[in-house]
This record gives sequence, C-alpha cells and structure tokens, in this order.
Amino acid sequence: MSYPKNSWYVAATRDEMGEVANDFLARRILDTPVVLFRLSDGSVAALEDRCAHRPYPLSAGHREDDLVVCGYHGCTYDATGRCVRVPSQDTPPLGAQVRAFPVVERGPFVWVWIGTPGGERLRPPPSTPWLQGDGWSSVGERRDVAANLLLLHEHYLDLTNVFAMHAEMVPPGIEALPPLEEVEVSELSVSYVRELPKAPLAPWEAQVSGLDSVESFGRKETGTFVTPGLHKQTYTISGADGPELELVRTHAFTPESAGATHVFLQISWRGTAVSPEAGEQLAAVFHEMADRDTAVLETVQRCLDEDPPSRRYVNVKADRAAVRARRIIVSMVEEERGI
Ligand code: FES
Repeated sequence: MSYPKNSWYVAATRDEMGEVANDFLARRILDTPVVLFRLSDGSVAALEDRCAHRPYPLSAGHREDDLVVCGYHGCTYDATGRCVRVPSQDTPPLGAQVRAFPVVERGPFVWVWIGTPGGERLRPPPSTPWLQGDGWSSVGERRDVAANLLLLHEHYLDLTNVFAMHAEMVPPGIEALPPLEEVEVSELSVSYVRELPKAPLAPWEAQVSGLDSVESFGRKETGTFVTPGLHKQTYTISGADGPELELVRTHAFTPESAGATHVFLQISWRGTAVSPEAGEQLAAVFHEMADRDTAVLETVQRCLDEDPPSRRYVNVKADRAAVRARRIIVSMVEEERGI
C-alpha cells in the first residue's frame, strides 16, 4: 500500500521552525528529502534537500540571510530553488535549480505540497479553526510511526479498540460503544457520529474538567477523515446545561515512505469548567495512549509485511468509516497512477 501524493501534508510544527530565522529542518516527506527554513519576512520556504550539482543535502550547508549555500562546493540557492551563484564560474549553468515546494503556515502546522506542481491551487490545506484560538487551547507532540498512512487512519476511525487498549479512558459502567449512528461520506472525506449513554466521569475526565465525578454526563464523539493528511476526533462531555468540556484530538499524518508516517498530534480543549492544569494532564494522558497506539500499529505493519499478498481479513460493523476511508485513499492512489 502506498499513499496519495496530491494532498497537503504537515511538514513541521511552528514550534519546530521557531518564530525567527533559524537553521534548517530536514525531513523526509513522501519519499522526498525536504529542507525547511524560515525567511527574514517570517514565511517558511521548502526546497528539495539535494544540491543540483551533486547528490549532497542542502541542509548540510549554511544560510546567508535568505540564501542557502551548499556545504560541498558552495553553489548558492534562493528560496525559489534557483541557483544564483557558483563560486567557480561567473554565472550558474542553465537549469541549475532545485525544486521548491508550496508552503502554508496555519496555526501550529506548516503544510507542504509535494504532489503535482500546480495541483496545490485546486485543493487548499484543510481549515483548522480550533487550532487557531477562538477560545480553544492546544498542546501537541510529534512522533514517527513505522506504519503506513492508511493503517493510522483506520486505527483512529475505529475507537472500539479503547476497551482492549485503553480501558482507563472509558467512562464507568459503559461496557460497549454504541454502533456508529451516522457515517457521512463525500467524495474525499468520511465522518461519523456516536452518542454514549449517560455515565459518571472516568478519572481522567474528572481531573481535566474539574466536574463532579459522581454525576452522570452525556458524551458525543465524532471522527472525521478530513484529508489523507488530517484526522479529527471530537469528544464533548455535556451536563444538564449543555456542553461542559469539548476536546478535539487532531492527527496530522504525513507519509515518510510507504511503511513509515510522521504523526503530528494536537489536543485542543475549551469548556466552562476546565482545570488550570488541563494542558499538562491532557498531554500526559494522550501521550500514553499514543505510545500504545504506536506499538500496536507497528506490530500490524510488521504482520502485513510478513503476510502473503493473498491474505485477507474480515471487517466488522465498527469498521464502516474505516472501510470508506480506505476506498478514498485507494482510489486517490489509483487515480494518481492512472489506473
Ligand atoms: S554538491 Fe553542492 S555545490 Fe557541489
């Protein structure tokens, strides 16, 4: 299984890039070496991390203001990838250029388009207002997972794994998640909604919300495959007067290769009763979950690699949204291959 190339993916977080001009951030994205750096006007540039002269990474060179100087023979590039100087001759040779990738910085994420040049204008990066203020606060982390992009989407679109994997997250008295009430499908996205019966608070919910843990609350959960590069899950705890705590778990998934994915996680929250330590608590709770998710996903990838190609697995009802997401990703990959 591969991954779609014609989609915006997160290349880095704003924190990783720093707020001011800094050095290089080198990252392999969609099997392509990419170097990112912040320019003096505050924007971020992304170039293919290979000199046009010889196979040598530009990220091993240095900066001269907004120019990148290769560390091997000193060829120098501007932020559009054009070679503007070759130290050993008067003018650069014709066609001395490295690929520059479109970049959009929005909220905590720096998005990059590695797909077909020009395609980025047809599909802008997904909008993420909950990551950009408006009463929301967020904490985040980044990790690398040795599993294909599709396995991650499927995993997070089927939360019935919480009983086996994350039992401490389940509100007391809930033995099984109700079936998905609604699976909404458009050409390029899938989302589902699920409401849980009223139940007292799990310890993590009580800690974060500051609500009385013996009272019963309703919960609504939604999961959305927004694009191949973005998954969004919402979780709302409501009392008699309406929502008390809203959480959004955002996963930006960026293929490094067919078998490895960069994962940028953001946990966002807002509510009437929220503990002052909510950020720290949520970061710890979801970090531990992500550790377990990573272990399972990497095991699934290893099993897949060992399986004969003819091996098939069955689906259950809870897989409805995941199956739809798989179809979208497979059809995008096939379309790009001209199948
Ligand atoms: S390899 Fe970059 S200048 Fe020669």
